[in-house]
Amino acid sequence: MLTKPKLSKRLQTIIDFVPQANIVADIGCDHAYVSISLVLNNKANHVIGVDNKLRPLRIAERNVALFEMKENVTLLRNPIDTITQPIDGCIIAGVGKESAVAMLDEFESTFQSSTWICIQVNAKVIELRKHMVERGYRLIKETVVFDKAFYVILLYEKGIEHFSGVPLIVGPYITQNIEENREYLNKVKEIAANFRLVAHDSSKQSMYASIDDYLQGIL
Ligand SMILES: C[S@@+](CC[C@H](N)C(=O)[O-])C[C@H]1O[C@@H](n2cnc3c(N)ncnc32)[C@H](O)[C@@H]1O
Repeated sequence: MLTKPKLSKRLQTIIDFVPQANIVADIGCDHAYVSISLVLNNKANHVIGVDNKLRPLRIAERNVALFEMKENVTLLRNPIDTITQPIDGCIIAGVGKESAVAMLDEFESTFQSSTWICIQVNAKVIELRKHMVERGYRLIKETVVFDKAFYVILLYEKGIEHFSGVPLIVGPYITQNIEENREYLNKVKEIAANFRLVAHDSSKQSMYASIDDYLQGIL
């Protein structure tokens, strides 16, 4: 008998990374592996798994039953069902930047002032970082995991951002820990060096140039 869902390295890192909380929303829960694992790893007492498609929700339902989690994991279909209780933490992972922003738009009203938000997007992480500052969130911590590709996992809460400039868009905590993140930072540098040459938009060109120059200075 299975006692725990077998998680990818990316998903296990997310579970290890998030703070302990009472009620957590797992938006875009898909198979509900994250929802179930949060409870099994004592990271949440209750998880609300939300998805907007029937097929993933059916699989999630089967998994919740298989791991005997019916008491601890509630599954909701967006937008038919709504989250009615205040949530303490929210995970949005494995999606594109636009979907992550759309999910925030839809579910932000269920956040309290102390609710943490863990976001991991599959692309456009710089754009997401800029969006979060503009939206009034501050970065609490971040990590990078290599699981066939690099994934950045970000933890935010409402508040004024203390970091600014290039470190904020590259990763202020990641750049404080160069040895641990050297491979990732080298990859970002390679991308920035390439984009500064090919970007059509002059503001993007100068952003990539400043990232390239900044990383050249610290690596
Ligand atoms: C690629 S899966 C990611 C699953 C999991 N979070 C992970 O990190 O592996 C994205 C899931 O988000 C769901 N989704 C997309 N837009 C959504 C929305 N607006 N509200 C709820 N679920 C959504 C999709 O149906 C899909 O099951």
